[in-house]
Amino acid sequence: MSIDLAPSLSDLAADAAAGLKEHFGSQASVIAAAPGRVNLIGEHIDYCDGFVMPFAIDRYIVMAAALNGSGEARVVTALGGEPAILPLNIPQQVTEPKWANYLRGVFQGFQERGHQLPGFDAYVLSSLPRGAGLSSSAALECCVATLLEGLLDTVLDTKEKALLCQKAEHDFAGVPCGIMDQFASCFGKVNRLILIDCMTGEPELVPFENPDLTVLIANTMVHHELSDGGYAARRKNTEDGLAILGKRSWREVVPGEVEAAWEQLGDPVDRRSRHVVGEIARTVAAAEALAKNDYEALGPLMAASHDSLRDDFEVSCKELDLMVEIARAIGRSGGVIGARMTGGGFGGSTVTLCESRKVEQIAATLAREYEEATGIKPQILASRPAQGAHLV
Ligand code: GLA
Repeated sequence: MSIDLAPSLSDLAADAAAGLKEHFGSQASVIAAAPGRVNLIGEHIDYCDGFVMPFAIDRYIVMAAALNGSGEARVVTALGGEPAILPLNIPQQVTEPKWANYLRGVFQGFQERGHQLPGFDAYVLSSLPRGAGLSSSAALECCVATLLEGLLDTVLDTKEKALLCQKAEHDFAGVPCGIMDQFASCFGKVNRLILIDCMTGEPELVPFENPDLTVLIANTMVHHELSDGGYAARRKNTEDGLAILGKRSWREVVPGEVEAAWEQLGDPVDRRSRHVVGEIARTVAAAEALAKNDYEALGPLMAASHDSLRDDFEVSCKELDLMVEIARAIGRSGGVIGARMTGGGFGGSTVTLCESRKVEQIAATLAREYEEATGIKPQILASRPAQGAHLV
């Protein structure tokens, strides 16, 4: 069996409650869960007023908590970081341990909205691989925000919650991310893709329940840090491109305009701009195809998306390219409809849309050939669209 099965959410919740009991001696009063995401198409255009089409996956970060009557949050994690003691109701600051900055950023968002945070103890665990391009940081932010909703007995508007978490990522993790990951983690619904118009910030739920289709996620196990500058540099390239084109939004840029301004744009902004315009068009085409249940049309769109991310946007890497090449070689007759890198890139995962009846063979081939070529054992997941952040 090459496919790594997801533990059930109820098992994770029970383990989180047991972790809380073991470390703090208390019974959980609130348990929150928030999922990671995979993006089918629409990459690196959420910060360009584009469209993206992610879905929440059945891999979660889970936190169990109980009030502790103090002015602090004490948080123990099974994610491989130091325990954190976080003073509440003071201005939050970026400091050590680093992993807790995601929490501090979310605390600040609640404080800015006038909430007085109660002291609590919490235990965090996860079934979502880190550094796999599946948005574990957004999942942690959305999990903490949902936990605070439970502890405060309040419910934020879902969009406001996602934007609060995105701001935490900007201000406390230093990554100028778009809205895709936090929207996917907050708005996820079983059997629904989330088509987000990133200009209006409105998510639309698109049915995705055909049992003949399976989405495989292949984690290359090669890790990248988005905060190392590659992500911010790409974002800056797109801002420069838009300024040179003299437009306020990428949605105003019509096909052919980038090519006409190629010389002025200069390398690499010319190619970055071509990616943005092409990827917006591809994502619109994918949404139209899905509305007609024309899944086959996704194959060429996913292929063109990957090539553009590799050659024009330059956010792929040899391991991602290899995984996509293996899927391409399996081909349509082997059950592969489409494959591409997914997420921020520079490592992480690929997404492969497959015929369900051939998924075991496809996963086995991806795992075997990738390991033969790199010596690295990949992790292969299969996920249907899952429920977004919620109290368990
Ligand atoms: C990261 C960011 C998202 C998005 C993707 C690329 O996951 O957090 O906002 O830009 O990269 O599509």
